[in-house]
Amino acid sequence: MTETATLSYNGKTVELPVRHSVHGPDVVDIRKLYAELDVFTYDPGFTSTASCSSTITFIDGDKGELLYRGYPIDQLAEKSHYLEICYLLLYGELPTATQLEDFENRITRHTMLHEQMQYFFRGFRRDAHPMAIVCGVVGAMSAFYHDSTDIGDPWQREVASIRMIAKLPTICAWAYKYSIGQPFIYPRNDLDYASNFLHMCFAIPCEEYTVDPILARAMDRIMTLHADHEQNASTSTVRLAGSSEANPFACIAAGVACLWGPAHGGANQACLEMLREIGTPDRIPEFIARAKDKDDPFRLMGFGHRVYKNFDPRAKVMKDSADEVLGLLGIENNPTLQVAKELEKIALEDEYFIARKLYPNVDFYSGIILDAMGFPTSMFTPIFALSRTVGWIAQWKEMIEDKEQKIGRPRQSYIGAARRDYTDVEAR
Ligand code: ACO
Repeated sequence: MTETATLSYNGKTVELPVRHSVHGPDVVDIRKLYAELDVFTYDPGFTSTASCSSTITFIDGDKGELLYRGYPIDQLAEKSHYLEICYLLLYGELPTATQLEDFENRITRHTMLHEQMQYFFRGFRRDAHPMAIVCGVVGAMSAFYHDSTDIGDPWQREVASIRMIAKLPTICAWAYKYSIGQPFIYPRNDLDYASNFLHMCFAIPCEEYTVDPILARAMDRIMTLHADHEQNASTSTVRLAGSSEANPFACIAAGVACLWGPAHGGANQACLEMLREIGTPDRIPEFIARAKDKDDPFRLMGFGHRVYKNFDPRAKVMKDSADEVLGLLGIENNPTLQVAKELEKIALEDEYFIARKLYPNVDFYSGIILDAMGFPTSMFTPIFALSRTVGWIAQWKEMIEDKEQKIGRPRQSYIGAARRDYTDVEAR
């Protein structure tokens, strides 16, 4: 029997079908609401609105659980690696050994950028934020790879997907190299995905650079933990852009732009800058007081999450990774880290943070690791973007293949001036 929810308004009643979810709340299908009751629903920030059905990722914010295609993130972070997870997110199942080898080969063969793209990079100012460059270059891929922009052709969708996953590390590394005035380092296809990215960022042509396997593993974990996160702001942006049938590169560029904001992917940069601004543990109470003050817009960056109201399961894995990296590099006593550890302790014991369920999120720790690896804060969000690209693509492909999807077009409650007649300037 189909379950329904009953809604009455203005003397009329409508039976709305309820759709069952495998995990998480069921959803009330309100598509006929406007036609039958002549009302819209109001939900700024979409806190109670499912914009799609999806089979990719599930988050239980109360339990602190994150599943990719059903698999818990902690198991994947421990046992799998980024490219295997890309396959899982894109195609729905873990690959066999042959499928994985084939997928890795396909990604590896697309890591180089069109040579002419170098000139595009060189058109940016040296002090441009790498996110500005990444956003521009990803969008420009539609000009360089227009043989994979027909979204109606499954093969072109596949080629565009592989190209973006393969080239994003090169684009991000080159944005970094350009900003510090060093030559671009070409990808090395004998290295794994994470090692190749570190190599392109830190190698220089005049010296041998060997990627430390512990750092490569930490980078792989950062990528894994950021690979997808269901219908967050940037993913919803990608879906919305894609709903107009825009080409895949334009859609992912839209996602990069949305991710840049400090309330989303920009939080890892903002968090480390905040830790540096705090400077020493004795200044923490001052900043905690500011975070609680409703008249002060300051928030503790790296704390809180829209969905996780218990703990962020990614944060735990990232914290262990941070300990490992800092131990390897012998910098456990660095002042930023001291502040981070003390801040985490104080905030977790503070009534304000406990009552609002504000815990350190994944960005709190990822910034510390990336800083220790030698990345400037401006590179934190590009690294998030390159890691999330596979999630954006998986969600975009799912949307294109979903027969129920339409162009995204929210409604509004208009509260401006009522209809009125134009007055001539002399009469105003
Ligand atoms: N510092 C201080 N107070 C906070 C913080 C914070 N970081 N986050 C939330 N609060 C408070 C709010 O002031 C509010 O208090 P009130 O109930 O007394 O008014 C309460 O906690 C609830 O906050 P909301 O803003 O309603 O929570 P929402 O779910 O909308 O926001 C968000 C989530 C945007 C992540 C928020 O916690 C925040 O700005 N955090 C800092 C930025 C950050 O780290 N973002 C990264 C998110 S993770 C990611 O993108 C990978």
